Amino acid sequence: MRILFLLAIGSILELALVVSGAAILDDRAGARVTRIVNGGKPERGREMIVRHGCVACHVIAGIGRAKGRVGPKLLDIEEQVYLGGVVANTPEGMIRWIGSPRKFSPATAMPDLGVSEQEARDIAAYLYENE
Ligand code: HEC
Repeated sequence: MRILFLLAIGSILELALVVSGAAILDDRAGARVTRIVNGGKPERGREMIVRHGCVACHVIAGIGRAKGRVGPKLLDIEEQVYLGGVVANTPEGMIRWIGSPRKFSPATAMPDLGVSEQEARDIAAYLYENE
């Protein structure tokens, strides 16, 4: 009985995920996805991307030095549904991933780099605006 109950809850949650995923995909099928980062300053984000060494591992538009191929290219990142395959790609999800990727994905090759919340906010603003 208990197991049946858990199974029922599981499939409801799964359904909710599918439905919200579909909503995101619908967004993508329409106009370009825009993700606004409140209080994020993209120009400062650009500086922080260089200072924290993101360029060593990622290709990033608008930053000539960002040619690293350790991680994925961060091009058109606003179009993606998940970050690192684990965090929903929302402004808040992006900020949290940049601040502490290993909290979400303990085995990821992306290190926790000591990026502050405001710095991550500025970086997220840059990444969403440049493609
Ligand atoms: C030592 C290499 C390394 C450094 C330095 C690094 N990353 Fe990453 N990053 C990765 C790897 C590897 C992944 C893929 C993670 C995964 O899927 O588990 C990743 C994933 C990401 C993602 C998600 C991309 C996607 O397609 O899902 C973002 C966004 C990101 N990094 C931003 C940054 C930012 C911003 C910095 C600098 C503050 C940074 N990274 C520094 C290696 C690095």
